[in-house]
Amino acid sequence: MKKIVVSTGGGDAPGLNAVIRGVVLSAIQRGWEVYGSRFGYRGLIDSDYLVHLDRDKVRGITHLGGTILGTTNKGDPFQYPVKTRDGFQTMDMSDKVLQNFKRFGFDAFISIGGDGSMRIGHKFLELGLPVIGVPKTIDNDLCNTVITFGFDTAVTTATEALDKLHSTAEAHERIMVVEVMGRYAGWIALNSGVSATADVILIPEIPFDIEKVCQKLMERELQGRRFGIVVVAEGAMPRGGQMTTVSSEIELGRQEIHLGGIGEKVALEIHTITGKDCRSLVLGHLQRGGCPTTFDRLLALRFGCAAVRFVEQGKFGHMVALDPPEIKAVPLKDAIERTKLVPLDNDTIMTARDLGICLGD
Ligand code: F6P
Repeated sequence: MKKIVVSTGGGDAPGLNAVIRGVVLSAIQRGWEVYGSRFGYRGLIDSDYLVHLDRDKVRGITHLGGTILGTTNKGDPFQYPVKTRDGFQTMDMSDKVLQNFKRFGFDAFISIGGDGSMRIGHKFLELGLPVIGVPKTIDNDLCNTVITFGFDTAVTTATEALDKLHSTAEAHERIMVVEVMGRYAGWIALNSGVSATADVILIPEIPFDIEKVCQKLMERELQGRRFGIVVVAEGAMPRGGQMTTVSSEIELGRQEIHLGGIGEKVALEIHTITGKDCRSLVLGHLQRGGCPTTFDRLLALRFGCAAVRFVEQGKFGHMVALDPPEIKAVPLKDAIERTKLVPLDNDTIMTARDLGICLGD
């Protein structure tokens, strides 16, 4: 009989609930018990946020977006925000997490999250916590797994949006500039842009030249195609330039950078250079919501069940990872070694170029 605690941390992504269901049901099958720590590690700091997860709690949640456990990207126990008389301060609560883990008699901690959660998990591993990671992010930028769950749904949402925008672009003979998520990696922009036949795709990995972008759109104009679709990842930047941010401030001792606005900038520049009517929109958190696609549901369920098998096999300090057709165990230290950017010789990049899509270079 084992007792597992599971949490979801960082930005939400479609498929989190399916992972939780996978963990809970496969643990119950083995006669084990599962608890959920709400809002990342909060349940291991304050037991009011620890919930027992039984069959009923995970019934009918496979297809639901969000997470029944809640999540936060401000819950690092090593820099935990604590309310004081002078506002919020950060405190190291890692000892409390370790003590409570023991006090409640847990045998394993399953941390579902992105690079931040895997980093925190690795720090706890070094302090002796038996951690298993499950990779989540719509950005698909975690290395050593072919894909993270949430990504396929985000790409599907972006592709559907681009499909819908085509009609307005064509009807009004406009350039529609669509900003999608992708902080350091342009996977969402690239995959949705190619699938939805965008004319231009701008990703963080390829700093762009706006003249090249306009040249492509004007070439189309000469062919009688008087409209265009431009997809821009939020982290894309012009050659020699910077990322565009909504705000950048020190919050609780951490540099918090909110990206946004590159789509609008690009639209304005295209208008200035070409004189074309341009509109921009930001898909934003729409890409993180909704029902996970079949691919993401299945992957999430597989990840959740594999995490419990790893507990059974004592594979602590590992992240479950997709290496088709298998789910393999990747040491947490390898999972956080780098950000998985789009390689410039990636096949989808080559496909985009072969299709005549401008990548801004
Ligand atoms: O990591 C996923 C992501 O969607 C990034 O692409 C984006 O920059 C970030 O989350 C925004 O997160 P939030 O608005 O929740 O702080």
